[in-house]
Amino acid sequence: MQHYFIDKPHSADDYFEFKDGVLGLELCFRSCDSIFSKDKIDDGTRALLNAIAKNETLSGCGLDLGCGLGVIGIALIKHYGVTMQMVDINATAVSLTKQNLIKNNVQHSAVAFVSDGFNAVEGSFDFIVSNPPIKTGKTLLFSLMEGAKEHMKVGAPLILVIRKNLGMESLKKHLTSLFNNCEIIARDKGYYILKSVKLGN
Ligand SMILES: C[S@@+](CC[C@H](N)C(=O)[O-])C[C@H]1O[C@@H](n2cnc3c(N)ncnc32)[C@H](O)[C@@H]1O
Repeated sequence: MQHYFIDKPHSADDYFEFKDGVLGLELCFRSCDSIFSKDKIDDGTRALLNAIAKNETLSGCGLDLGCGLGVIGIALIKHYGVTMQMVDINATAVSLTKQNLIKNNVQHSAVAFVSDGFNAVEGSFDFIVSNPPIKTGKTLLFSLMEGAKEHMKVGAPLILVIRKNLGMESLKKHLTSLFNNCEIIARDKGYYILKSVKLGN
């Protein structure tokens, strides 16, 4: 079975466009069959964005880790006026994110590039957000959390969405031991929004 995070050749027929709304924003996306979240904003991504808008004051430069089509980064740029770096292991996802930044008129507020986890990421961020890859397994997920901590400024939050039945408790435990804190800031139909803050170096 082909997973959405493995890139594959595409024909012109695989591409399409859709419109969807979140945080009171009307957004438009170019998409492709194999790229998450295909033809609508994912329910977990929507829960994450709603929780952030309700609970957090974000500013500065953030990282959208595993950006897919670019939904999270684009919505945060428009909502908060922040700048973003947006990365994904999948080159088609990154190409679509670049096109979607232009379609939504925020191309001057973000850079998007291919990165396997943090291997091409430099510097430290004011916040990191992600609807992280879960199906790749705990080892990768936990290593992404460690990479995140290395790339956060002191005081920066890491905010993630995960389904309760897809490993929320073990991720929360891992974040608590890594950051010495992890808070559930929202719950929405089985999706949990977790936040850890980097307290020191
Ligand atoms: C659950 S999807 C979220 C996509 C998008 N952020 C959204 O909310 O619609 C997770 C994304 O992580 C990407 N991914 C998987 N493994 C990765 C890795 N090692 N490094 C970076 N991105 C990865 C996948 O290609 C996928 O686009």
